[in-house]
Amino acid sequence: MENRSDLSSILSYLPVVCRSSALFWPSKVVEALKALNKGPDHSKVDSGQILFLAISDLRHSLSLSSDSLSFSTADGYSLFFDDLMSRAEANKWFGEVLPALADYLLRLPVMLEDHYKSADSVSFVGARDGLKTGLRLLKSQEAGLVLLSQELIGALLACSFFCLFPDDSRGANHLQVINFDHLFASLYDNYNEKQENKIKCLIHYFERICSSIPVGNVSFERKVLSVDQNVNYIPHPEADSWSKSVAPLCLFEVCSSGLIEDYSKEALEVDFANKYFGGGALTRGCVQEEIRFMINPELIAGMLFLPCMADNEAIEVVGAERFSQYTGYASSFRFCGDFVDKKDTDSMGRRKTRIIAIDALVNPGKRQYRHEFLVREVNKAFCGFSDPCKSNRYQLLFKDDYSSKAELNHDLRSPESNSDNFLGIGPSASLEDEVGIATGNWGCGAFGGDPELKAIIQWLAASQALRPFMVYYTFGLEALQTLDKVTKWITSHGWNVGDLWNMIVEYSSQRSKQETQVGFLNWLLPSLSSDDAMILDP
Ligand SMILES: *[C@@H]1O[C@H](CO)[C@@H](O)[C@H](O)[C@H]1NC(C)=O
Repeated sequence: MENRSDLSSILSYLPVVCRSSALFWPSKVVEALKALNKGPDHSKVDSGQILFLAISDLRHSLSLSSDSLSFSTADGYSLFFDDLMSRAEANKWFGEVLPALADYLLRLPVMLEDHYKSADSVSFVGARDGLKTGLRLLKSQEAGLVLLSQELIGALLACSFFCLFPDDSRGANHLQVINFDHLFASLYDNYNEKQENKIKCLIHYFERICSSIPVGNVSFERKVLSVDQNVNYIPHPEADSWSKSVAPLCLFEVCSSGLIEDYSKEALEVDFANKYFGGGALTRGCVQEEIRFMINPELIAGMLFLPCMADNEAIEVVGAERFSQYTGYASSFRFCGDFVDKKDTDSMGRRKTRIIAIDALVNPGKRQYRHEFLVREVNKAFCGFSDPCKSNRYQLLFKDDYSSKAELNHDLRSPESNSDNFLGIGPSASLEDEVGIATGNWGCGAFGGDPELKAIIQWLAASQALRPFMVYYTFGLEALQTLDKVTKWITSHGWNVGDLWNMIVEYSSQRSKQETQVGFLNWLLPSLSSDDAMILDP
């Protein structure tokens, strides 16, 4: 195994042990997993209650104390598998799925060895040759990518289900919980249907991967804005870059119904994230981010190795498969059956589903109208929406010496004009050029942001990142009734990023000083406010 440094950064967070360069399970664990693999007649594991005893034994063999699990974990497993699940489903789970999960676990050490072998040989297709892809901690302020097979992700999530990850040093290193003990414990402590339905999604995922092993890949990337010139980093906009930008605004499409994850064309689908990737997915959370993690559970694997995001960071995941259908939101969230994901795959075997996690300001209140916080939010969205392959074109955007838009557009839009073709910007970049943004009320639900402000900020960021379009799902929000009209008006007047930025800055300054109380859309174009608009346009 060549990638010693990759492995050593993550080894203490993995349950397997490493001796003389080989990875393996302790022999007691192998014995127990082999018994589980033979089925309940052999292992006697045929109920949630006994399953928890098996989990405790496995943890003991890995020198993990069961005291460090959440208090009601045993009751949670028992409640779910012995009371809430029908006997027929439980028979299938203990008779077929659990033995197959044990097989995933048994094969984990070999999967990891193979992973590091192929991570050594992979040269990233399309751009950025020589990029490392091995499983490792993707630390804060280090741009980088981890490419995992869906099969390996299945084995890692099986470890979470069996609570086999060492958990003691995670918090101190800004990593979230990764075992499923909290998920089950909170089902018992505070029973509610949404929690039961979150678990149903994950159980469904395990059933699917145990009936047929998924064959694709998923990549997890930490994107970082940096003032350093480096191919993997995205140039950090300077303080006045936004007001000076002459980048054209991209197409803005408003949808008053529908959901981001159902958008059919290629787009970066925004995850309204917590700075801890996944938020409350493995605890009690059940809003936009957590729901995405339940229906595309492979996202959870990123929680293993992606510490907390800083303001200048975003996380992009390409290839996570969707397994479940659902209805509802928060307390009304319900699993409602299998979902067959028909997205095609790219040259690296990843489904063309791109999820971008950006964390908005939490409870910003009036703070969100202060200049520094506008800059924080627009830079965060820009980090998420940008394509590191276009770093050089972004550098151009932030320069002052562009006298005409024509000149700028020529330089930005034509790949030939890029002086750094060695980066691989070329055929792949033109495909990437088709990828827009699918988003909505980012940071406006539980986080309490102003949706009008957030819509405009995301539009500015998408445009500056040279995305061709942004699709905005309003979820029928009242405040955004005129969003379509206002954005069309702005577009028809040929405003660029700088023009719109200066307007939102002026509005925010007035709002901060309480010189205005109305929302941005109404402030900008009072004649288009909803009442008047209805009169003009019945
Ligand atoms: C997944 O990635 C590996 C490189 O790590 C590659 O060898 C393999 O072919 C990819 N799988 C698919 C289905 O393309």
